[in-house]
Amino acid sequence: MSIEKIGVLGCGLMGAGIAQVCAQSGFETVVREIDQKFIDKGFAIIEKNFKRALEKGEISKQDRDTIWGRLKSTLDLDDLKDCDLIIEAVVENLELKNQMFSALDKICPKRTILASNTSSLTIMAMAASTNRPDRFCGIHFFNPVPVMELTEVVKTIATSQETTNTCLEFCKRIGKKPILAKDNSGFIVNRLLIPYLLDAIRVFEGGLASTEDIDTGMKLGLNHPMGPLTLLDFVGLDTTYSIANIMFEEFREQRFAPPPLLRKMVLAGYYGRKSGKGFYNYSGDKPVPIKLI
Ligand code: 3HC
Repeated sequence: MSIEKIGVLGCGLMGAGIAQVCAQSGFETVVREIDQKFIDKGFAIIEKNFKRALEKGEISKQDRDTIWGRLKSTLDLDDLKDCDLIIEAVVENLELKNQMFSALDKICPKRTILASNTSSLTIMAMAASTNRPDRFCGIHFFNPVPVMELTEVVKTIATSQETTNTCLEFCKRIGKKPILAKDNSGFIVNRLLIPYLLDAIRVFEGGLASTEDIDTGMKLGLNHPMGPLTLLDFVGLDTTYSIANIMFEEFREQRFAPPPLLRKMVLAGYYGRKSGKGFYNYSGDKPVPIKLI
């Protein structure tokens, strides 16, 4: 089936990035938020990305204006009713997500595919809140969305092959390289990434090495773009804590259990870059490791 118009639920870092790449790839895109202030914040992220692309000569002012022309925002779920594909990127709260999916299921035509960008929840737990589990799947993006090439397309036991193929094709049209994953908490990438990040915290918490040495070790030893503690600050410690809890709940395996330090940092409001403090302090010219143990 052909996808022409995209709906995006949520205009945070991920929602804004998803909306940007969709509009950039020629799709009419409408982003829905619950408050204008979140739209303003998300659109400011997009504006910043366009500014960077303009400065580098990657796009012209005319391109930018054309892309903005394809991008609409709304506070009303009803404005998504003629979308062919709706991608949800709101907080990892199953009840909240299901309220939206259930409402969209009622107002959208049969052809509309519903997808979630969840990083850890089971897709079937959302699909079950609708009457279209065959037209429901996961499309998992990576941060920063405009830069990261990968998407995971997640097929549940009820997702139809046609829906899967349409979503794989859609990902290619927005310039991403999709991989197919089964509907298991964490899919492929987070299943491997989360235990790695949690282990990096355990190494630090156990006093085995300093923040900088852990990061330098993995960066230079394995040629990773960022060390694990820098990556934790980038992804968000609150987000990682929430993913780890969901995965631990699902698998009951110790490797998914959040270490005590992660919990304490979240309680202290040390969410990483977004709050200015995490494993590093971001208030100066360059990040400085914080004394945490
Ligand atoms: N938005 C848009 N573009 C951005 C950006 C952003 N936030 N940050 C950087 N860029 C662009 C730059 O413009 C630049 O583009 P160019 O190559 O065309 O010039 C390019 O990315 C490289 O940027 P910089 O030179 O400024 O900086 P770096 O070389 O340090 O790259 C990075 C920054 C791309 C973020 C790199 O450090 C990186 O790849 N880090 C790892 C990111 C990662 O692992 N993400 C996945 C997280 S896990 C996840 O999202 C799953 C979730 O479920 C938890």
